[in-house]
Amino acid sequence: MNSHAYKAWLNDSPLEDELLKAKYSALVGQLVFDGEPSGVLNTAIKELRSGIQARIGITPALNKRKEPGGFLQIIVCTDEERLEEWRLGEEGFKLRYTQGAAHGYLTLTGGSTVGVLYGVFHLLRLIGAGKPVEELNAEECPRNRLRMINQWDNADGSIERGYAGRSIFYENGSITTDLQRIKDYARMLASVGLNAISINNVNVHEIETRFITDELLPSVAGVADIFREYGIKLYLSVNFAAPLQIGGLPTADPLDAGVQSWWKETAKRIYSFIPDFGGFVVKADSEHRPGPFAYGRDHADGANMLADSLAAHDGIVIWRCFVYDCMQDWRDRKTDRARAAFDHFKPLDGRFRSNVLLQIKNGPMDFQVREPVSPLFGAMKKTNQMMEFQITQEYTGQQKHLCYLVPQWKQVLEFDTFAEGSGTEVKRIVDGTIYGMNNSGIAAVSNIGNDESWTGHILAQANLYGYGRLVWNPNLTAEEISTEWTIATFGSDPLVVSTIKGLLLESWPIYEGYTAPLGVGWMVAPNHHYGPDVDGYEYSRWGTYHFADRDGIGVDRTQESGTGYTSQYEEPNRSLYDRIETCPDELLLFFHHVPYTHQLHSGKTVIQHIYDTHFWGAEEAERMLQEWAGLADKIDEARFVHIANRLSEQAKHATQWRDIINTYFYRKSGIADAFGRTIY
Ligand code: GCU
Repeated sequence: MNSHAYKAWLNDSPLEDELLKAKYSALVGQLVFDGEPSGVLNTAIKELRSGIQARIGITPALNKRKEPGGFLQIIVCTDEERLEEWRLGEEGFKLRYTQGAAHGYLTLTGGSTVGVLYGVFHLLRLIGAGKPVEELNAEECPRNRLRMINQWDNADGSIERGYAGRSIFYENGSITTDLQRIKDYARMLASVGLNAISINNVNVHEIETRFITDELLPSVAGVADIFREYGIKLYLSVNFAAPLQIGGLPTADPLDAGVQSWWKETAKRIYSFIPDFGGFVVKADSEHRPGPFAYGRDHADGANMLADSLAAHDGIVIWRCFVYDCMQDWRDRKTDRARAAFDHFKPLDGRFRSNVLLQIKNGPMDFQVREPVSPLFGAMKKTNQMMEFQITQEYTGQQKHLCYLVPQWKQVLEFDTFAEGSGTEVKRIVDGTIYGMNNSGIAAVSNIGNDESWTGHILAQANLYGYGRLVWNPNLTAEEISTEWTIATFGSDPLVVSTIKGLLLESWPIYEGYTAPLGVGWMVAPNHHYGPDVDGYEYSRWGTYHFADRDGIGVDRTQESGTGYTSQYEEPNRSLYDRIETCPDELLLFFHHVPYTHQLHSGKTVIQHIYDTHFWGAEEAERMLQEWAGLADKIDEARFVHIANRLSEQAKHATQWRDIINTYFYRKSGIADAFGRTIY
């Protein structure tokens, strides 16, 4: 596949500025590298040469020594002292332009071969954006050690919560033979600095349970080989009950000696096929998945047993904290799903092995359009922890709607937990600095499938790109990232850049506007989670209520009269959320049950806010479509039409959201819209 949609941000159209092209040509006519490139370095050099060929139209000579003229020299740092001296992390790189007497030259120094690869992608991005040669300078090092993608792909080729076609990894119960597509994906991930991938769904079914057997490990190892070339380590989601299901043992009890040695043998086998295997991702005792509870053990017992099997091989266990009672009775107003992760895990702080990491979803519920930050961040001071984001838009429009999530993730990372006083932002907890954690980082659920555009909606590529860039450096702004992505994907035309960047940056508030208001969440159709169904989850067993009735709406999570969830936060956040007077409007209904006439800080009543944001959101969705129409002669037809179709579907669907929500609350409350607009 060779389309623009397929190439995504690795768009390699030739540069149009001939003068600049000539300047670049003079600089990169020869690549100087002393040694035999293999592995990741080989990948880096190949990427560099083909990128230059496509953009500038020359293939650089590969020289061991400098010949006359400009050059680009590649240096790989091989010893630790020099790393320190150069103040380069192992995965970091430096790019330097120097103007000599007769010609200019570039030096790309990598802290390792992977550092060089990241430097190459960075350089190609600068060239693609048409930076003047004098500005080809950079000094970069990733802030997070583990920068991971979680695939929720199943061996039958389906993808849990996938909205962009079938899996690129599996077909009909086996690993695909189309390894080229996997390689192209590895490139995309490495180009934004990601370094880890788990390749199967956290819900591990029958076939995937056998990925760790002699029978299936050879094909898993084939996939690991591809990712290795791009500096990406492979992980597997495993089934906690595997000893029972495939090991012929009578139990999966983590304290049983037979179970422990079964996992040790299994780990040994995996490493004999994949020497640099990353480790296991585990969803246990969550949504009916098996786990240690069945044997009267806790999460630390379960995670530590697996960690011990991997320790000798430097592998890690990523244990998910998405654990809650999914069979809650609606009459029980004290059980609160939001409390669950903290209640389960906080008491276990200090009991986990050093090669266990707890993976915590960004919010306490489940990737809603708006949630507070999970109070577990900062609460566990002696436990490695990492963030889990969701790039796939399960609750945010399923890649039919545009919803650029970088601003949301940014807010989460910037959130001050006050766990060690002011300035304890989430980003400094998950990057390991606050608690000196030896394992830490960020993971996210992928949004790709075998669709031509990878992500179903071409503009949803920006979420995958933005995720990688933000995890590399959480201090980048959403605006910087969206500008970079737009230029890399669509070129530098000022109208194109300003329009697309604008659409991206406005899209999350717009989506929130016409969907669930004020942090309450969960007004989607149960099960598939697409489209409005205000009471869908109100009458289901999954414990996710908004408690709307004729008098009011919202969940009382205060200490005095509610579930006490607010007590899981440190001060001053605890009081901020607990007190209705200080609770931020956008989260009011997450924390408080209020009458429809309650006045927000904005001055509006809750009911008027609901009407206004829904009318506004639907109008804005229509406006986004009009803005896009203005790019008709600036974007190739295939991409233009694809995006126009998606935005038009979104605009239509937004009116449906508006009408269903407005009518619901008008009928519940009996209070008319102050502006007399049409409510059915
Ligand atoms: C959500 C999602 C499930 C998924 C689960 C998880 O509930 O709807 O499909 O399995 O999260 O994160 O484990």
